[in-house]
Amino acid sequence: MDRIRIKGGRQLKGDIRISGSKNATLPLMVAALLSDKKLVLHNVPRLADITTMIQLLSQHGVEIDAGTGENGHAHGTTLTLQTRRISSTTAPYDIVRKMRASVLVLGALLAREGAARVSLPGGCAIGARPVDLHIAGLRAMGAEIDIDGGYMVARAPKGLKGARYTFPKVSVGATENLMMAAALAKGTTVLDNAAREPEITDLAECLAKMGVPVSGIGTETLVIEGVEQLKAATHTVIPDRIETGTYAMAVAMTAGDVELVGARLDLMEAAAQSLRAAGVVLEKTNRGVHISRANGLHGVDVMTEPYPGFPTDLQAQMMALMTRAEGASMITETVFESRFMHVPELSRMGANVTIHHESALVRGVPKLRGADVMATDLRASVSLAIAALAAEGDTTLHRVYHLDRGYERLEDKLAACGADIERLKG
Ligand code: EPZ
Repeated sequence: MDRIRIKGGRQLKGDIRISGSKNATLPLMVAALLSDKKLVLHNVPRLADITTMIQLLSQHGVEIDAGTGENGHAHGTTLTLQTRRISSTTAPYDIVRKMRASVLVLGALLAREGAARVSLPGGCAIGARPVDLHIAGLRAMGAEIDIDGGYMVARAPKGLKGARYTFPKVSVGATENLMMAAALAKGTTVLDNAAREPEITDLAECLAKMGVPVSGIGTETLVIEGVEQLKAATHTVIPDRIETGTYAMAVAMTAGDVELVGARLDLMEAAAQSLRAAGVVLEKTNRGVHISRANGLHGVDVMTEPYPGFPTDLQAQMMALMTRAEGASMITETVFESRFMHVPELSRMGANVTIHHESALVRGVPKLRGADVMATDLRASVSLAIAALAAEGDTTLHRVYHLDRGYERLEDKLAACGADIERLKG
């Protein structure tokens, strides 16, 4: 297994190109299951999770062609997806257990074929992560769903019907699943208390290009008119706001000066506000977002919430930054119940963090020291890389495959800005 070695102490300076959003791309790829026409996606990041989604969709019968950027999008991959015929309605355990986002095929398969068999994803390093809301929403649209042998076995022999469904809790994945099911359902679907993440908006805009009338985009009530057939469409994936926030925090950690090219500040206002309160300067530029820091870092309190709140996917990175701030910071995680797996590893590097239920009290320390560390999910892993950039001596990051799921060429992007970082093979 690969490792990454980082020697701390270098300031990051230069440009970092922000990739297309992983969490926007995954549902957009699944939308190809809804139609027999071509769906062209530009600005797709090159990541292990995208490869896993290609594997899953291919076995459902989606023909996928991966090319380099065209149409003026010289960055990322361009994927052309077409599903002339669904060859299998089963999403097998072996793929779903590797990547939970696989459950997004449930709504689309059910809507198009009237049947789907999708493995339950099981537990996860950041919490229990049930799929009850996906199931309840599809049932409200007329689906019959049983659990059998670890699989969700779903049928809609007479097709899905538009319905009004109010999510009892905001869920990104369940909102996406129901949006795709609604696209081919008979009649109108109204989703209340829907997730409002920019990735949801990106999916809604792509569905609209595919000929599905969607209104309420960007609000907590989405209204989707089902259609009989979708059209061919071309869509450019939004920049990754979590990758943007991650590099902003890495630059701030080293008191660096970097332009995040292709980034959109409007997609990360809550994180930008917390970073500004901590003493980081974020400025919109013609090419993206410029990050610098004039003075020291201050401790700030942060609470994760669904969008437009502070994202849970930046909580670990913010904590890494706060380990070196002046004063204390209270970091509260309200989205997932056990997303503090990075804390013991940060402590091994000299951080002072105490957990009280869903909050972590971080007291800034004058220095961190390099160590051998590993993490259990990709955001926790990258938080250790951020800590390593400011630590004294060498840090070796183990289980790098977590990083490869969500960060495209992390070591190249950081090295190009002056970080002392290398991937150790094998
Ligand atoms: C998406 O996961 C993201 N993944 C996650 O990013 C992100 O952390 C999360 O949204 C929250 O923003 C993708 O987009 C592929 P949820 P998702 O359903 O859709 C509970 C990363 O690092 N819940 O919004 O699975 C759930 O347990 C990943 O890139 C139910 O109770 O998240 C959690 O507490 C990690 N029942 C909360 O809702 C359900 O049926 C939010 O989960 C579904 C969810």
